[in-house]
Amino acid sequence: MQSSTPPTSVDWAKEMAHFRAAFLKVEPRFDPKLADRNILNSLFAWVWRLNECNTLNLNFDKGFWFYGDLGLGKSMTLQALRQYRNGLVTRHESKQDDFRMKGTWLKSAGELANIFSVEGQSALVKFTSDDINLIIDEVGREPMPAKYYGTELNVIQFILQLRYDHRRDSVTHITTNLKLEEIGQKYGAYIADRCLEMFNFIEFKGASLRSRIH
Ligand SMILES: Nc1ncnc2c1ncn2[C@@H]1O[C@H](COP(=O)(O)OP(=O)(O)O)[C@@H](O)[C@H]1O
Ligand SMILES: [Mg+2]
Repeated sequence: MQSSTPPTSVDWAKEMAHFRAAFLKVEPRFDPKLADRNILNSLFAWVWRLNECNTLNLNFDKGFWFYGDLGLGKSMTLQALRQYRNGLVTRHESKQDDFRMKGTWLKSAGELANIFSVEGQSALVKFTSDDINLIIDEVGREPMPAKYYGTELNVIQFILQLRYDHRRDSVTHITTNLKLEEIGQKYGAYIADRCLEMFNFIEFKGASLRSRIH
């Protein structure tokens, strides 16, 4: 289901400059040479549904599952994507009709588990809504199951399950150190299966950037 209407009146040089600026806003020391060029290009292709520069062969209707060791730029990249989206929808009104360009919330898996522990399951409803796109950072590091008084819940399993049902109206992105085969162990085979339908799996590799830039 790759609907691809090539936009006509887009100044690509200007958009790429905005794209770079979004990364610099999130990380002032952002150095494209330290990032994976294929990932950056494909991210831009994903936003604009550009088949020509879709080097990672992404499905444009699915979100991103970024996995790999700590310190490789997974969270920063999704924050930059969100930052780029914010300006984009004001520059290009037509992008507002693209479900993937809805307002995007960012929560870590730990925060979501904590919201459940303090306020209960009803407090998670807003994160399962198809009114928003959602980035869940650090999936797999949340307490599991989380406890609200006597009730236990595998919070990320619950959220993924409901967001799967809305996958054609809203998109979800993940950062994690879990590989696809580890999703089943944590969240069950049923969710792992659904993840295949919801996400483009992209591995971040290399040496941690934290020690290299700090
Ligand atoms: N290409 C880059 N150039 C400069 N700094 C970067 C780059 N990519 C990531 N960083 C920085 O490196 C650190 C680790 O990135 P982060 O996104 O937190 O990694 P991860 O989520 O993979 O653990 C952060 O401070 C981030 O801003
Ligand atoms: Mg991270």
